[in-house]
Amino acid sequence: MSVLEGKELRIVGFLCNWCSYGGADTAGVARATQPTDLRIIRVPCSGRVDPLFIIKALFNGADGVLVSGCHPRDCHYSAGNFYARRRLEVLKQFLPVLGIDDRRFAYTWVSASEGQRWQHVVTQFTKQIHDLGPAPRLEDAEPLLKVADMALTALRPLGTGQHAALDALKVAIRAKLPELECVIGWQQGRDAAHTVPLFMRTPEDVDKLVWGPFNVCNPAVYLPSFKGKKVGIVVKGCDSRSVVELLQENLIAREDVTIFSLPCEGTLDMARVDQELGRYTTIENVAYDDAHAIITADGAAHSFCMADCAQGKCYGCATPSAVLADERLGTSVEVTPGDVTPPELALLDAMTLEERLSFWHGQMQRCLRCYACRNACPMCVCRDYCISDSRAPHWMTQEASAKEKLFFQTIHALHLAGRCTGCGECQRACPVGIPILALRQQIARAVAQLFDGYKAGLHPENVPPLLGYEVVEQNIHERDWK
Ligand code: FES
Repeated sequence: MSVLEGKELRIVGFLCNWCSYGGADTAGVARATQPTDLRIIRVPCSGRVDPLFIIKALFNGADGVLVSGCHPRDCHYSAGNFYARRRLEVLKQFLPVLGIDDRRFAYTWVSASEGQRWQHVVTQFTKQIHDLGPAPRLEDAEPLLKVADMALTALRPLGTGQHAALDALKVAIRAKLPELECVIGWQQGRDAAHTVPLFMRTPEDVDKLVWGPFNVCNPAVYLPSFKGKKVGIVVKGCDSRSVVELLQENLIAREDVTIFSLPCEGTLDMARVDQELGRYTTIENVAYDDAHAIITADGAAHSFCMADCAQGKCYGCATPSAVLADERLGTSVEVTPGDVTPPELALLDAMTLEERLSFWHGQMQRCLRCYACRNACPMCVCRDYCISDSRAPHWMTQEASAKEKLFFQTIHALHLAGRCTGCGECQRACPVGIPILALRQQIARAVAQLFDGYKAGLHPENVPPLLGYEVVEQNIHERDWK
């Protein structure tokens, strides 16, 4: 029976073998009275605690999770707890976007001699969880379907320009082509309003290159498969950040990649375009003025204003010109960085925790688990060994439940912590239009707040924050939790 009033709750504790487990033992030997809600899992070091352990516990019925390790500078593996601190803090800031109260998770430091401190920590945390009560379950939440309001003001005028530079771009590519295995770009797809990737190997292929607001996909996703070969790539500003992030992580070599760029004036939200076009037989023409793309389908003209129909990511884009390029063509577009909350994230920000849980329940019921989001992601580079497919260890089942699907999305989002450049390919590729980019955006926001405004994919020499640590973290105050 718990020393606290009422029924026991389920609390999972991940304790480092060398300090906190010893501290719990010391408390036990001293017969210090403790609540009995905690189920302890002994781990070699707090650095061994993958944030997914915590998510998995919370998704599978835990009402709270506590991680405890050696005090900073006391880790038996020297820096395990420093790495853990960054990961666990990012996780703590991520939980609310899923509809999970972040007070259900805490991490702290207890040494082997601190039996009394252990007693205090476990009693306080258990009391906190009892105050919160049993955790609401995703499966029990009433599904809620809401759509993001896309009426946003962009940081710069969105348009359809830069076509004039396409010929110059083709000339630059043809000049470089003999030195390269291929150059990746875009070509017309099933009609003039849809594009698909283009792999240019001959001068004739270069003629097929197109540029404009229909160039929605991110060609950087193909770069790792050309590792070790000389390759060229045509990029928009957002695509260039993915290239830089791949360079940061040594997944490609700078000397192997030639980057061609034109400034981007925005790309269209193709889900909205397809919805507006409806069923059609042929597209006769696509024309542009400065602010609109006009598609004539089956004799009817449909006008798409870039200011209203761009992809959500374009409104807050501060890098329309490539952050890194060998050949820059077109007229450079300068943007003053501003604080635009992406529409998907703004939608979740306006909800209560209960509503967010309901929202994800509703959205995940629609998920087909087709893995298009993973396959389109340029930073999802271990898809051949993806843990969502792994049977040893068996992280996920093939069950078609909302919980398993949200767990998959959470794995993807957490694996992109500090690495996601916000290109939005996951969401664009989703055949049922689930706003999954919001999960990545929340993590990116947490990373920026914790690590001096860090944004992935801006400088090839930057180290992603979760691959490093500071002994004294300026923005992490884990000792405030007592
Ligand atoms: Fe205890 Fe690393 S050994 S936190």
